[in-house]
Amino acid sequence: MDAQAILDSLDLVAERSEDPAPQVYERLFARYPETEALFIGDKRGAARGQMLRQAIDTLLDYLGPNAFAANFLRAELRNHDDIGVPAEIFPAFYQAMAEAFADIAGEAWTPAMQASWDELTAEVEQIVQAPAQTI
Ligand code: HEM
Repeated sequence: MDAQAILDSLDLVAERSEDPAPQVYERLFARYPETEALFIGDKRGAARGQMLRQAIDTLLDYLGPNAFAANFLRAELRNHDDIGVPAEIFPAFYQAMAEAFADIAGEAWTPAMQASWDELTAEVEQIVQAPAQTI
């Protein structure tokens, strides 16, 4: 995966949008309408914003030292299972990010960015499907 292309895409989004969260969740809810109701208590979007930040932090770790990303994703899977989020929505969340970020980046979005985000989504799918490691 071209990590630099993903980092460049995040820079673009930071330059062009004050808060990409509404667009990311719009994409997620469009594809998985049942997930919108899960956020009913999140009136001001604070949890949605925090969740997106954590997902991006996890992505940055994954592209860099990869110290916690895979285990953290699996731990969140378990936490989210309790609130009714199935595993397959995790890669869909990264997919929703890619779609929203591409919209925000507009003409500056490159084929390398698209390819890297596609690859990332596929890798997240692998991580959440893999059985938890026993230490
Ligand atoms: C990389 C993947 C994810 C990470 C790191 C993550 C992280 C988090 C965190 C940290 C919170 C607590 C936020 C807070 O209360 O301040 C949270 C809450 C929540 N997450 Fe996620 N999440 C992920 C994926 C998902 C997905 C795919 C869904 C499905 C729609 C989801 C649904 C929720 C819901 C419904 C809450 C509770 C919101 C509320 O308090 O009303 N999460 N998540």
